[in-house]
Amino acid sequence: MNDFEFYNPVKIFFGRDQILKIASQIPSSANIMLLYGGGSIFRNGVYDNVINALKNFKITEFGGIEPNPTYETSMKAVEIIKEKKIDYLLAAGGGSVVDATKFIAAAALYENGDPWKILSKSDPVTASIPFGVILTLPATGTEMNKNSVISRKSTVEKFAFSSPYSFPQFSVLTPEAAGTLPRNQVANGTVDAFVHVIEQYLTYPVNAPIQDRFAEAILITLIEEGPKAYANPADYDAMANLMWSATMALNGLIMCGVPGDWSVHSIGHELTALHGIDHARTLAIVLPGLWKVLRVEKGKKLIQYGERVWNITEGTDEERIDAAISKTAEFFESLGIKTHLSDYGVKKDTIEKIVKRFEERKWLELGDRGLTTPEATRKALEYQL
Ligand code: NZQ
Ligand code: ZN
Repeated sequence: MNDFEFYNPVKIFFGRDQILKIASQIPSSANIMLLYGGGSIFRNGVYDNVINALKNFKITEFGGIEPNPTYETSMKAVEIIKEKKIDYLLAAGGGSVVDATKFIAAAALYENGDPWKILSKSDPVTASIPFGVILTLPATGTEMNKNSVISRKSTVEKFAFSSPYSFPQFSVLTPEAAGTLPRNQVANGTVDAFVHVIEQYLTYPVNAPIQDRFAEAILITLIEEGPKAYANPADYDAMANLMWSATMALNGLIMCGVPGDWSVHSIGHELTALHGIDHARTLAIVLPGLWKVLRVEKGKKLIQYGERVWNITEGTDEERIDAAISKTAEFFESLGIKTHLSDYGVKKDTIEKIVKRFEERKWLELGDRGLTTPEATRKALEYQL
């Protein structure tokens, strides 16, 4: 096992009627900004519950945060925060609202010029306005981690940042409110969480059996519960299991002491930036292609994954690896998530654009052991044309 540090200070409130508890988590003198997206919180009861819980607080609302939240929209919130001397943020919605809030919280206190540098140049965050989260969509894990992903319209780019200042103080997880999700978002959430686990698990063995088994448990639960929640988002038990699985998939626990990859995400972010494809769908395209390219290097873990997660116990190593890759793609397709670029109208010229961007940024050895070179990226995407 590799050496590691683990720190996660996020307090979780999970289940029904938890929103009422937020009043006790926020300082009574707080000048709050409530941030949300395109209006789903008005239809699933979250807005009313928040207003009811915070009736004795001063609240300014900031709505309209878009899926794949942008720098441009975030900076509008930063202006209002400075003008109104807001000192507490509350994000209510999916991962996009939470990620925007993390960036806004850091950008409002940034003193080193344009806060875009936090994303484009990985300039470290040194302070953030404190914030809490009400999560209504199981997918990203952002409710219990320190990461955020922001897009910039003017440059057609999408970058992530990570900072210990970007942990929420608390997160309320609401499977009931997630019951109003459209089915395609439930499918997205299941696949995003699945690939988060894969990015931390499917590398090479380092004798870390507890991390492996945590990861396999989350994968198996997603395979069992994801389709139930997809069939009926209002199935509370299935949604609750999906939600906790998605949180556990990316709250830092399973990455302790093991190598990570994250190149599927790096390539996927380009497909979102260039074509607006939903985040999870980009991952479903890239993952099978990248595995086909790195099947030898990742062979040991692919065989372990096939055996323990999909019960693939027969055949040669080659056959088992093929079966593990196709079972995974079939699982994504069973949730209505297509795995080929042509399904999204994306052609070969996009592959060249992505490879060129990686070369220009000197992203020459991404992921696990630096195996995802620009050439590997090209081949992976060509497999999925
Ligand atoms: O905008 P509203 O009206 O709220 O509607 C949203 C949005 O249209 C809707 N929605 C959310 N909860 C709902 C609901 N509709 C009905 N009922 C509910 N209960 O769902 C739509 C999608 O929401 P969004 O927040 O964009 O989805 P998701 O949670 O999948 O977040 C995706 C973003 O997270 C980033 C992605 O790149 C993408 O930008 N990620 C963040 C990560 C992190 N911070 O750790 C890790 C991930 O890998 C990912 O990259
Ligand atoms: Zn993701």
